[in-house]
Amino acid sequence: MPAALDLDHLVQPDRVHRTVYTDQAIFDLEMEHIFESAWVYCGHESQVKEVGQYQTVQIGRQPMVMVRAKDRQIHVLYNRCPHRGVQLCGSHSGNTGSSFVCPYHAWSFHLDGKVRAIPLIKGYDGTRLSTDDPDCNMARAARVESYRGFVFASLSPTGPSLVDFLGDAKVAFDDMCDRSPEGEVEVVPVCHRVVQQSNWKFFMENQLDALHPSVTHQSTGVSARRVEKQLKEKEGSAPLHFHYLSTFASSFDQWDSVQTVNFPHGHGILKAYMGLRPTDPDTQEYEALMRKAYGPEKTEEYLSRSIHHVLIYPYLSVQSPLQQVRCLRPLGPDKTLSEIWHFRLKGAPEAIYRRSMWYFNLVNSPATMINADDLENWTRGQNGLQSKGNDWVSFHRNMGGDTEKDGVLYSNNGTSEVVMRNQFKAWRNYMSRAQTPTTA
Ligand code: FES
Ligand SMILES: [Fe+2]
Repeated sequence: MPAALDLDHLVQPDRVHRTVYTDQAIFDLEMEHIFESAWVYCGHESQVKEVGQYQTVQIGRQPMVMVRAKDRQIHVLYNRCPHRGVQLCGSHSGNTGSSFVCPYHAWSFHLDGKVRAIPLIKGYDGTRLSTDDPDCNMARAARVESYRGFVFASLSPTGPSLVDFLGDAKVAFDDMCDRSPEGEVEVVPVCHRVVQQSNWKFFMENQLDALHPSVTHQSTGVSARRVEKQLKEKEGSAPLHFHYLSTFASSFDQWDSVQTVNFPHGHGILKAYMGLRPTDPDTQEYEALMRKAYGPEKTEEYLSRSIHHVLIYPYLSVQSPLQQVRCLRPLGPDKTLSEIWHFRLKGAPEAIYRRSMWYFNLVNSPATMINADDLENWTRGQNGLQSKGNDWVSFHRNMGGDTEKDGVLYSNNGTSEVVMRNQFKAWRNYMSRAQTPTTA
């Protein structure tokens, strides 16, 4: 670990030092002071609908398990047996029944983590181990809260509430749920998991980077546009999923006209650019259901929010109009697991769900040329930053042109690197705690 973290040197207003992407000691401090302190997304309530249903999740370096207890409460526990440390759940998800039972020596635990039984308990007579001792329980995350069905945990007992942490970026979940005639979404229990050979910050910066799509995704976007055009000429219309891909090939000027909004804590929004309000019969049926549920005014408000992505810094990308959620679990300075989920709008027609699935498969899946092209860039970025050719990563673009109001940074240039500058403002804030010695 470095004796002192020189944040003034590492993070400057217009550039950052390459080691913040490559250095193991800095990564360890990030885990401690960012991921193991902030609110981290664990999953959706619908992933643990039944009592005993669980989902394992990584928070920073800590293996955790989210589980539904008998009283319907959701707990987030350390996935570790208090006896000798064996992980109690070995699968991503499942149902553990009425208790967790350790596969090693069969200590068992209630679903809130409290110890239930220890075999041959008399073997502990005369020792200082007692089942009244909290050390005999599975430890719990310090705080667990959910917002509109999305469950978060913080390993720190202090800090902002979940709603304060999310701030205006909570619109990610409002926008997703409000698009359902029942006001709720449900997870589709299929998750693409991809290990990116790059630092987690590459993904976060890329999500609101409007300069790259027309370059990185040009081949896919141009090909899709060609087919879309042919279909329109021949049949009068083309399925919406061609449009998902063809918009990537928009011009630089078009991308530059999309606005970004950059909130405190590093969160941000890339505003809408796709125009996802077609007038086909499926959409009309859906919009009629929405109007029945909410009335015309609210329906209009809900369906016309200008959002493409919402980023919850430092790990979540939510594409609320298409019900996609991508979550990062950093594994090392040059290794990041991403979990790619999509959701169903409860009460919406099947065709609307299929649109979400098309996007999941065509854009966010590791098998597409969109995601694959991004992955290639980030790997090459990571490799490049190992080089001593230049110590700096540049975020100068449109610097000086940002406007700030109530702590929110706006830029009228979609391609402005205000996004990265804002993320590093948050990063620096979290990491300033690393300069104060802790006892943890
Ligand atoms: S390690 Fe779990 S019961 Fe022994
Ligand atoms: Fe991309």
